[in-house]
Amino acid sequence: MILPRPQRKNWMPKLGVNIDHIATLRQARRENFPDPVKAARVCELSGADSIVCHLRSDRRHINDDDLHRLRKSVRSRLNLEMSISPEILRAAVLVRPDQATIVPEKRRELTTEGGLDVFGQKLKVARVVKMLKQNDIVVNLFIDPEKRQIEASREIGADFVELHTGRYANAADAAARLEELRKIRAAVLFGKKIGLGINAGHGLDYQNVTRIAKISCIEELNIGFSIIAASLFIGLSEAVKEMKRIIN
Ligand code: PXP
Repeated sequence: MILPRPQRKNWMPKLGVNIDHIATLRQARRENFPDPVKAARVCELSGADSIVCHLRSDRRHINDDDLHRLRKSVRSRLNLEMSISPEILRAAVLVRPDQATIVPEKRRELTTEGGLDVFGQKLKVARVVKMLKQNDIVVNLFIDPEKRQIEASREIGADFVELHTGRYANAADAAARLEELRKIRAAVLFGKKIGLGINAGHGLDYQNVTRIAKISCIEELNIGFSIIAASLFIGLSEAVKEMKRIIN
């Protein structure tokens, strides 16, 4: 498959670091440390191009106070992952992150499972996109790498789509992984062609990120769990720097 020529010489995706699990650790003991805001600062100083956090309806990790403090402290870009619930939309509009990533959210899931069904709930998602854009928030929709989801995202005015890489990351064998990679490449090509910015993320780690980072035209990779897990052994700063090194 021929991919569009990268618009930048030596194309390399940016790195958004998701710091939710710093707050997960804090909530495990209902303590006031470790502080996700402090972690975000370390990530930025170590090369993160943006800070990502997910304000869930059950506030299981990041809470409203974290979000407000992050807004004040983040100097790169703040990317808020959010569902389409009215309560979360109100919080987003109040805080005004630089970017909002709309994700599906189920109460019992351990992490975001699958992409947002933009095609199947176009009107509902469109209302949220419109409200965010009216508040000058860049909109990114987290979707599976499928043509109809990409088309629907474009139709309702999203700026970016973030392609869900979970199936690629969790593929049972090499053949299945290649097939998922093929779908992601095709989705990047199609999304670019119809004028969307393309991001990717979920389940990426120090091994599987390379093939995704090599796909030209992906703007940003959003990575959380593997970086926070590595930070236990090598420290957060080194964990972010190492991911940047691999991506570059
Ligand atoms: N992108 C989105 C939209 C997500 O919901 C998540 C998980 O919070 C990630 C990226 C990061 O996934 P992981 O923690 O598996 O790196």
